[in-house]
Amino acid sequence: MVARVIPVEPFDLVIFGATGDLARRKILPGLFHRFRAGQMPSDAKIIGSARSEMESAEFRTLVGAAIAEFVAPDLRPQDQLDAFLQRLDYVHIDVTGDIGWDALQKILRPDTIRTFYLSVSPALFGAIAERLSTHAIATPQSRIVVEKPFGHDLESARALNRDLLRHFDEAQIYRIDHYLGKETVQNLMALRFANSLFEPLWNATHIDHVQITVAESLGVAGRGGYYDQSGAMRDMVQNHLMQLLCLIAMEPPSKFTPNSVRDEKVKVIEALDPVPLRDIVRGQYRAGRDNQSYFDDVENPDSRTESFIAMKLTVGNWRWASTPFYLRTGKHLRDRVSEIAVIFKDPPHNIFPNKMEGRKGNALIIRLQPDEGITLRTTIKEPGPGGMRLTEVAMDMSFADALGKDLTSQDAYERLVMDVIRGDQTLFMRGDEVEAAWAWADPMIAAWEEASQRPMPYDPGSSGPEEALMLMHQGGRRWRPIGD
Ligand code: BG6
Repeated sequence: MVARVIPVEPFDLVIFGATGDLARRKILPGLFHRFRAGQMPSDAKIIGSARSEMESAEFRTLVGAAIAEFVAPDLRPQDQLDAFLQRLDYVHIDVTGDIGWDALQKILRPDTIRTFYLSVSPALFGAIAERLSTHAIATPQSRIVVEKPFGHDLESARALNRDLLRHFDEAQIYRIDHYLGKETVQNLMALRFANSLFEPLWNATHIDHVQITVAESLGVAGRGGYYDQSGAMRDMVQNHLMQLLCLIAMEPPSKFTPNSVRDEKVKVIEALDPVPLRDIVRGQYRAGRDNQSYFDDVENPDSRTESFIAMKLTVGNWRWASTPFYLRTGKHLRDRVSEIAVIFKDPPHNIFPNKMEGRKGNALIIRLQPDEGITLRTTIKEPGPGGMRLTEVAMDMSFADALGKDLTSQDAYERLVMDVIRGDQTLFMRGDEVEAAWAWADPMIAAWEEASQRPMPYDPGSSGPEEALMLMHQGGRRWRPIGD
């Protein structure tokens, strides 16, 4: 299969925080890939901005080095890299002061779509939005992109929304959750709404439970300062896992338009029942052979922030009443695996005399990473004589095998930045959606803080604390193993 590349309109993209980690690792290499793929018009302009003073030539050298570090050699032919770097300029801007804004205004073209990507601390969102507006740099067609974390709780998220909405319309604001840009995450929507096979079964009558796992094998070393203020709940559950849950649980939207899709996601979040503390397990990794403990990584021996969380949720609506959703995510776990497992109920009546011992039943496993794909676990007859013995087999589909590596290896940021330029908000969080997710998360965080709860220790390379296994066992269920 050959990728269809539809070039976007000419644009001027300003990246605030252009020398930061995210820009170097993801945004600029992503733009380079899109340039190589022919999606970027030849007169597109990318303007880096940051605190340091430097010439455009120096910035191009920095970006060239970042691409050399984060893009494989065979994917960065020198002539194409040089041509891409020619699209870059740099303007030094003091985002809380007056320096640089006039220079930025001069470099931008009057009739070209302007996109401002704020890859900076959320504390600066308001100041930048305000200056873009007072210096008349933002036009009614401009777009503003903001990174997570979008707030620390409901109140701070509301304040950020207010700051942005003072100068931009909601239709101009693109709140990034990079999980929504992952190929398989979008495939969830295709799987559910472009096939008639699953929808009749997609409810509490047929689905026993859903497991959503986002396990990481690395710890928080190097980001301890940020992480210890957030923890797994704020860093992963309130946003990334919540988005996965929404796509699995939402009703079919009437159209595939940004607001129809986002309306349905908000309804899921609003239908979530409060989660009692007994249905939440929080953990902190211990020191291991190759890693120091969570406390040492965050340099806070008394920290009560979780590096692991598992919880049992219920969605209080007609479709899902009585089907629990189990969420789990953590650092320093056994493997790097993200998957959604939809576990179906057993057939209502068993006609086979030799019941299969330990039978797990039908399951649809959607693998987000690594090896993106779908597995359908089914029961069949074991081959050979000896009567009707049953066994389970996996109908396995890897997207890379089925569709080709080139089509499935695109990074989430590449797609999301191009969507901003196209003006498509489907894969971005709307203000009310983020606020609803915080409104759900805040009482849980408050409850464990009030109870002065300490997270349970777990070994690095494990599946998290024992208590997380118990959470599942209590319901007579089992987590899928993390990794092979
Ligand atoms: C980020 C979190 O948003 O997502 C990180 O801040 C986490 O803590 C990362 O490691 C996971 O993203 P991915 O794409 O590697 O699964």
